[in-house]
Amino acid sequence: MLIDHTHRSWIVGTFAVGMGAVTLYFVLDYFTPGGGLRGGDTVGLWYGVAGSALMVFAGLISALRRLPSWWFLGQRRVWLRGHVWLGLLSGVLILCHSHFRMGGPLEFLLMVVVFLVIGSGILGLLLQQFIPALIREQVESEAPLSQLDEILLRMRDQSDDLYSKAVGELADEVARLRVQGFYLETARPWLSEVLPVDSPIAHAPISREIFAQTAKIQGGPNLMAFLTRLEGYCNERRQLARQQQLHKILHTWLLIHVPLSVMLLILGIAHVITALYW
Ligand code: HEM
Repeated sequence: MLIDHTHRSWIVGTFAVGMGAVTLYFVLDYFTPGGGLRGGDTVGLWYGVAGSALMVFAGLISALRRLPSWWFLGQRRVWLRGHVWLGLLSGVLILCHSHFRMGGPLEFLLMVVVFLVIGSGILGLLLQQFIPALIREQVESEAPLSQLDEILLRMRDQSDDLYSKAVGELADEVARLRVQGFYLETARPWLSEVLPVDSPIAHAPISREIFAQTAKIQGGPNLMAFLTRLEGYCNERRQLARQQQLHKILHTWLLIHVPLSVMLLILGIAHVITALYW
């Protein structure tokens, strides 16, 4: 999700409600007789109810993903915006609910988790702003990663064909062994789904140098055609690897955000139970 001018009303609304909520809190605190607002009073309780409701709403995004797009659910885009901006607002309301204190051990843990959920959400949002642009900038031949296996299989099949023709025309045994060694041990593994660690082809300048050296082997036109195509595929694979790496970063943060939000739900329920019964 890109934060652009279409978010303006959400930003203004969140800021206004957030500021309003904090101002109201301090006004009520000032006018409350006996030293201001205290834990367990009605005002704090309502802030807690509102903040928790917004967090539950934010958490519903997960359920929404698993539901068909029924018309009455509205647009997913609107839910996502609500998730981000109301999720942020929930933090402000919970701060007022806690009277800007961390409380006992359970409340302390709950507050830490609230801020970790919000912090990881902000981190993810930042990644979503920059990584797609990085992919466009660094990856010339962007490909649908869902088709990666097919793309690599096609590259290997075509390379194997060209390799057989190139090796077939090499009369010199030493030259044949060099081409064979380079293709089977270095280049072909680079075209597989799992990238070999420490492959020299991973580094564009080293790869260029290796291909330049291999191209010096005396052979026919088939060898040249093979090496030219193979170098193109190896470069493309490097781009795909970069794309995969950036996509991984773009999605890995959810492995922090989602478990934390589950923890938030569990601790929130525990907090309500302890507050009601003790
Ligand atoms: C406060 C309570 C929050 C809870 C309980 C919560 C929970 C979640 C969950 C469960 C998901 C995963 C949805 C899925 O893919 O199944 C998610 C996604 C996400 N959250 Fe939050 N979140 C909260 C606050 C925030 C905040 C404050 C931000 C940003 C400032 C944020 C940003 C995001 C983003 C960008 C995604 C990915 C949405 C997408 O691109 O599909 N979250 N959140």
